[in-house]
Amino acid sequence: MRKKMVVANWKMYKTLAETEKFMQHFPAEIAAQQQVEMVICPPFTALARLAVLLKKTALQPGAQNMHFAGEGAYTGEISPVMLRELGVQYVLIGHSERRRHFGEAETLLSKKVAAALEHGLRPVLCVGENEAQRRAGETEKIIEKQLWGGLGNLELNEELGANMVLAYEPVWAIGTGTPARGEDAAAVAGLIRSLLQVKGRGMADTVRVLYGGSVQPENIVDFTAQKGVDGALVGGSSLEAASFAALVEAVLKERGA
Ligand code: 13P
Repeated sequence: MRKKMVVANWKMYKTLAETEKFMQHFPAEIAAQQQVEMVICPPFTALARLAVLLKKTALQPGAQNMHFAGEGAYTGEISPVMLRELGVQYVLIGHSERRRHFGEAETLLSKKVAAALEHGLRPVLCVGENEAQRRAGETEKIIEKQLWGGLGNLELNEELGANMVLAYEPVWAIGTGTPARGEDAAAVAGLIRSLLQVKGRGMADTVRVLYGGSVQPENIVDFTAQKGVDGALVGGSSLEAASFAALVEAVLKERGA
């Protein structure tokens, strides 16, 4: 059984003080529940502190990015070893904002995915088409390119599926208030699994596929109730404690928990 998960991507929002305030307001009963996995990826400046604040909760700290080297002369970068030291398990790799604004492309991303796994981290590889690509009917082609590009030469077995997560985030749905439709997210999740089925050995069944893009407490179950969609990667609606808790609560309710 693939456990449902809700991942908060805070992007470049929240100072240390704001992070502490978020945790003060986060409802204790949601923080303690373990039926839905919960991850918060804050800016790096808040990550060490958040990791401490989350210690006695079921919430986990995650990272938004990392370098592929364990250490080295890479000014401004953060290594997988540094993330491990904080107790981080999940790390976002290839978010569309990193692809778009920082020129991150497949060769680099496959190195990051492999390095995360080598260091015992779980990469959350993000894929998704932009508006122009969607209009041109290129969604499937782009997803396939980004999927194989990010996975590189990894053996696509059951174990890999259990140790990483894929996130379908259509760029046109991010931060726009216009989410994809549940069935479209399910179709892409299905496409990803069938691509993995052809090349892989078991990964298709074990890997979790999340949807991201304008997910809110009011619409999250439109996605998480879909076959093959295992959770959500959320930006804007994860920034308020009450709203992030409401996202998790909605999934719990839908699961009958
Ligand atoms: P929004 O939920 O703000 O649309 O952002 C989605 C996202 O990019 C999460 O990684």
